[in-house]
Amino acid sequence: MSRKRALITGITGQDGAYLSHLLVEKGYEVHGLLRRSASADVVNSRLRWIGVADKVTLHDGNLVDQASIIRVLQIAKPSEIYNLAAQSFVKSSWQQPSLTGTVTGLGATHMLEALRTVCPEARFYQASSSEMFGTVQEPVQSETTPFYPRSPYAAAKLYAHWMTINYRESYGLHASCGILFNHESPLRGIEFVTRKISDGVARIKLGLQETLALGNLDAKRDWGHARDYVKVMWLMLQQDKPDDYVAATGRTASVREFCELAFAHVGLRAGDHVVVDQRFLRPAEVDVLLGDASKARDKLGWEAETSLEQLVAEMVDADLARLRTHEHL
Ligand code: NAP
Ligand code: GDD
Repeated sequence: MSRKRALITGITGQDGAYLSHLLVEKGYEVHGLLRRSASADVVNSRLRWIGVADKVTLHDGNLVDQASIIRVLQIAKPSEIYNLAAQSFVKSSWQQPSLTGTVTGLGATHMLEALRTVCPEARFYQASSSEMFGTVQEPVQSETTPFYPRSPYAAAKLYAHWMTINYRESYGLHASCGILFNHESPLRGIEFVTRKISDGVARIKLGLQETLALGNLDAKRDWGHARDYVKVMWLMLQQDKPDDYVAATGRTASVREFCELAFAHVGLRAGDHVVVDQRFLRPAEVDVLLGDASKARDKLGWEAETSLEQLVAEMVDADLARLRTHEHL
């Protein structure tokens, strides 16, 4: 039997690396869309870290260039497409609202149109986000909770979300949205708060810096591990019928609590090192997110497996190891 073929956009990001690893393990032929960078030597650093850089095929292309997507689909001939590419940093979406709309929003339409033209039988996963719940309309958010986006990023994701549903209903595509709550890992970008904390804690422990400057310490998130969350993406595309699912842990914690766990892991106290810097506040904030993933549990048999304590420990240990060996990621 021929191997299954998957195309991942955003393959060089956190989730792209974990998903590549999962699919390679399952015997897939994995293809990825790679946007050209002047720093070509570091673009696949996450794929190298996770050990799949030489097991995936990368294709030059960009979500804002529809012709490049069509060409990549014609070459890769995927039966599953995971659209993970995005300008994904919420804070930057106020600085670059048009770019965020173009890549994170319109980019999904480019993918859907290309799929419809080149390979309409392929199954499609759209990386939707809990950020779309924004100012939460229910204390615990599920697939039926109304959305209230609070950032240009969330508004762009909401457009992409509804376009995916619209294409499913209009053209009968096997297109599904995963409304994923925050998920982190040692491969998280350094600008996101959890990795900023794990890196900062490691630096302070090693005597490389004294303080860690953060923004809103009271914001609460439902934090899971990316390794667990890529499994739900794959499970969604193995179902006979496309559908939308929330993935979450069902536990929420504040940025302050995340700090306390991270500092405690190396025998330090967060209160001795964390300072608040107004520069890291946002024009509008999502105060609290807490997800209900019972639909994914009941229909897909999926559950988050990693506790917050395990996640924090793994991230801090990885940053300590990196700093000791002068590895950059
Ligand atoms: P990430 O680490 O920021 O990765 C984003 C990926 O998109 C990178 O590979 C990036 O390429 C690529 N990309 C950006 N602009 C592009 C463009 N114009 N054309 C092609 N590729 C482009 O994000 P992540 O944490 O893995 O998240 C994956 C997806 O899930 C994103 O869509 C994100 O918005 C969404 N999501 C994430 C979470 C979370 O907590 N992690 C939760 C819900 C939803 P470069 O490497 O070249 O920058
Ligand atoms: N980045 C950052 N840096 N955030 C900080 C800081 C800081 O110094 N201090 C406090 N925070 C707060 C933010 O204000 C926010 O409330 C929270 O920490 C989490 O911020 P991020 O880690 O940047 O993630 P996010 O929740 O805004 O967005 C992530 O999760 C979404 C899913 O809900 C991203 O991965 C999005 O792409 C994703 O869709």
